[in-house]
Amino acid sequence: MSGLYSYTPTGDVTGARRLTFYQSTLFSPPMLDYLLPYSSVLDVGVGNGRHYKLWLEHFDTVWGIDKSVKNHFADLPVTHIVSDFETYEFNRTFDVVAFICSFYLFRNKKKIFSKALSLADHLIVIVDDVKWEDRKCGSSCYNLDDILSEFGLGRKRYIERKIGTRFSFIQVKKEL
Ligand SMILES: C[S@@+](CC[C@H](N)C(=O)[O-])C[C@H]1O[C@@H](n2cnc3c(N)ncnc32)[C@H](O)[C@@H]1O
Repeated sequence: MSGLYSYTPTGDVTGARRLTFYQSTLFSPPMLDYLLPYSSVLDVGVGNGRHYKLWLEHFDTVWGIDKSVKNHFADLPVTHIVSDFETYEFNRTFDVVAFICSFYLFRNKKKIFSKALSLADHLIVIVDDVKWEDRKCGSSCYNLDDILSEFGLGRKRYIERKIGTRFSFIQVKKEL
């Protein structure tokens, strides 16, 4: 599976999806408003953990899992698991389960979404660059609304031209 980033010595990436991009989008209003009621998060496909400090600004309990990348930020109070999300057995659930530029990499997206659903008490967040319109992207293309309809779920989504990335907030409990 491809999709590994080249990290800079500080642990960030170069290009459009630098930390400053997430600081000014996912971790800013109005999108941050979806996250603020919650305190525990699992970041799936977390990479080297470059988003950990952003999660920690708002969340008490921060876990991440990545198939192959170790934690670059070992001094932060997080739980970083190097394992395959598809097979790893978690002993707890989380308020929020997030995929930041990782959901499109999974081959069996319904199975992965179903696992995320079993782990998320309130919210699933999927951040991916828009893929539907690009016919050349092969198995990384997916229609999230088709997947969600099988689970009786809908979403709030943000696709702004100036952002150029799809942010999907999926409420898994009806009280919200
Ligand atoms: C494009 S990188 C994004 C990393 C991170 N979310 C970020 O934005 O910096 C995708 C990550 O997903 C991880 N990944 C892919 N398949 C995985 C799996 N089955 N279980 C856990 N992590 C996986 C890869 O190792 C890679 O680090």
